[in-house]
Amino acid sequence: TIGQRVFSGVQPTGNLHLGNYLGAIQRFVGLQDQYECIYCVVDMHAITVPQKPQELTRQIREVTAAFLACGVDPRRHIVFNQSQVSGHAELAWVFNCVARMGWLNRMTQFKEKAGKDRENASVGLFTYPDLMAADILVYRATHVPVGEDQKQHMELTRDIAQKFNNDFAESIARNGFGETYFPLAEPLIQGPARRVMSLRDGAKKMSKSDPSDYSRINLSDGPDAIAQKVRKAKTDAEPLPSEEAGLANRPEADNLVGIYAALSGRAKADVLSEFGGSQFSIFKTALVDLSVAHLGPIGSEMQRLVADGHYIDSVLVDGANRARVLADQTMRDVKDILGF
Ligand code: ADP
Ligand code: NA
Repeated sequence: TIGQRVFSGVQPTGNLHLGNYLGAIQRFVGLQDQYECIYCVVDMHAITVPQKPQELTRQIREVTAAFLACGVDPRRHIVFNQSQVSGHAELAWVFNCVARMGWLNRMTQFKEKAGKDRENASVGLFTYPDLMAADILVYRATHVPVGEDQKQHMELTRDIAQKFNNDFAESIARNGFGETYFPLAEPLIQGPARRVMSLRDGAKKMSKSDPSDYSRINLSDGPDAIAQKVRKAKTDAEPLPSEEAGLANRPEADNLVGIYAALSGRAKADVLSEFGGSQFSIFKTALVDLSVAHLGPIGSEMQRLVADGHYIDSVLVDGANRARVLADQTMRDVKDILGF
């Protein structure tokens, strides 16, 4: 039988930001007591768009440092980078043959990332969700903490698992795996910051690739940068409402209250009961203090870890060795099921 196992990944593609932290990495930490966790730097996803090799090396270390600085424990759990475990690519090929063109054609992230020049997008960018399904299912993970932007890819992962289980039901049973081989992995999309928005535009998600540095708070930002970005964050002219319903149609206010709630571990309603009726200037000052107190130690620990590259590299080698044992077993099973 399949145990309760968590898998999630972060791309080494640039500035890690508050959205990555609140939507994903912070939540990785909280799952460690309940689940066996596998946290991955998904470097093969990164090359779906052009990367400079030396930059990529640096960013793989930086994302690893972020996992550790935020409190992921690489002794109790597995931390590694995707390219070091060949089962991800092998299973992705199998899933390329399970997923249907029509399913991938519906993926909104491809449409956003490819933009108007679809003819010139890499094939990897198109099949990205199949690799993501392989990342999760090569460990037969049951739970996946992600931000809301990954909801559609998680549905595809479940569709792929289900089609594989159905198409090969007879062989799965004959090989002694029972009725199904892959679990239907559940996304864990929770909390007040499941979709952190840009600080400059309440209609866009906070993103690594936004050209405006004022749109996001980076995990590496110092106190001055954090303070400037929060003070410049777009708001409307009304004071804060005293109840959550008052945040409807006020996306910028909703976003800042959500960030405050997530950083302080409180509900939005609770934050509003404290700040309802206040001007944004007051609330922003409190948000700066909270952000600096929370992110400051993470940023400096990341710096310390990145400076000692050997430690990070040893964590990744050890993690890959442990991940490989699990992935290799799945690939042996899958090959038996396929008749290879
Ligand atoms: P990005 O989308 O910034 O390029 P990734 O694709 O590597 O980053 O995503 C890493 C994790 O961070 C995923 O779980 C994703 O859902 C989450 N995430 C990314 N942006 C946000 C956001 N603005 N709010 C909440 N979670 C986010
Ligand atoms: Na993303």
